[in-house]
Amino acid sequence: MGFSTDAVHGGQHPEKVTGAVMPPIFQTSTYKQEELGKHSGYEYGRTQNPTREALERNIAVLEKAKHGVAYASGLSTINAMMNLFKEGDEIIVTDNVYGGTYRLAEMVLRERGLRFHFVDTTDLENVKAVMGPRTRMVFIETPTNPVLNVTDIRAAAELAHASDALLAVDNTFLSPCFQTPLELGADMVMHSTTKFLNGHSDMIGGIVVLSDDGLAETLRFLQNAIGAVPGPMDCWLALRGVKTLPLRMRQHEANAAHLVRFLSDQPKIKHVYYPGLKTHPQYELAKKQQRGFGGIISIDVGSLDRAKEVLKRARLFTFAESLGGVESLISHPATMTHAAVPKADRDRIGVTDGLIRLSVGIEDAEDLEADLASALSF
Ligand SMILES: Cc1ncc(COP(=O)(O)O)c(C=O)c1O
Repeated sequence: MGFSTDAVHGGQHPEKVTGAVMPPIFQTSTYKQEELGKHSGYEYGRTQNPTREALERNIAVLEKAKHGVAYASGLSTINAMMNLFKEGDEIIVTDNVYGGTYRLAEMVLRERGLRFHFVDTTDLENVKAVMGPRTRMVFIETPTNPVLNVTDIRAAAELAHASDALLAVDNTFLSPCFQTPLELGADMVMHSTTKFLNGHSDMIGGIVVLSDDGLAETLRFLQNAIGAVPGPMDCWLALRGVKTLPLRMRQHEANAAHLVRFLSDQPKIKHVYYPGLKTHPQYELAKKQQRGFGGIISIDVGSLDRAKEVLKRARLFTFAESLGGVESLISHPATMTHAAVPKADRDRIGVTDGLIRLSVGIEDAEDLEADLASALSF
């Protein structure tokens, strides 16, 4: 089936009792059991929930995976993936990842004995340089939040596999509409479903998809054992959002392309970050491994004061954390999403005080352009 068909129907079937076309929200914490040792397959809401399973099947189909395991947030998904490893194990991570991923690794998991190497994975020689006998996973985010660096997924998978390590990809920024890393050799793909998959900024969630039965079983065990599960209502909202994912992604991208043309002509902007720009250092790679360039743009306006002014003047672009919703958002990574990253590291990876991230929504491109023109006119 084509992607749009799968977005609507993938892993879905009418509900057994009533034939309800849309999966009901099974808002229950427990299920009646027939007798000792005999039940319907559903015992307790943390362990099994049909609405959650409908979401897991759907995203698995879209990502060309056998299994999906949903969690309460993108970060609890990454935490579960990291729980596959133990003290002394080493994980190589893209240096430019979402700030929360950095915080989880450096401020929580490192204390418990996991070892992390943050390197620029756009050059895989950097990965090779830190790869060792205890390397268990290479975790890449591509394109990265917020400066949109692109890593070669196929080459990273080959490199990881040559050392018996797994390759995991945070695919939040493109969604399976524009990128399917498992088809390029990755072992696990995760999403903050909070973002493009849900697409309406009305829930928090996460999911990991994969095809290895053993790993999936362990991640399923961790879902229940750690207990960071998404509620049925949130799963339903994500599932509902996915049905329009291809329509939304096309509009996000068309609007982003329009705005990139406008922003590139603004003399007050020091730098425009967008993988669809021919000047982007990984433009050719992005064209090869992605089916679209996405709806996120970052711009460097030169200083904190100038950034503050732009954020204050924007109207249609709402000043808020997060991304991937139908509405356009504007944010300041250095003080918001990436505040946990030390300043020296932020400057090194391009998250300067003048950097502004735009999550381009699905509104009319002309209105978005007018808003940015006004925000930049001082
Ligand atoms: C790329 C990326 N990965 C993971 C996360 C974490 O997701 P959540 O906020 O759902 O925990 C985010 C959140 O912004 C993100 O942008």
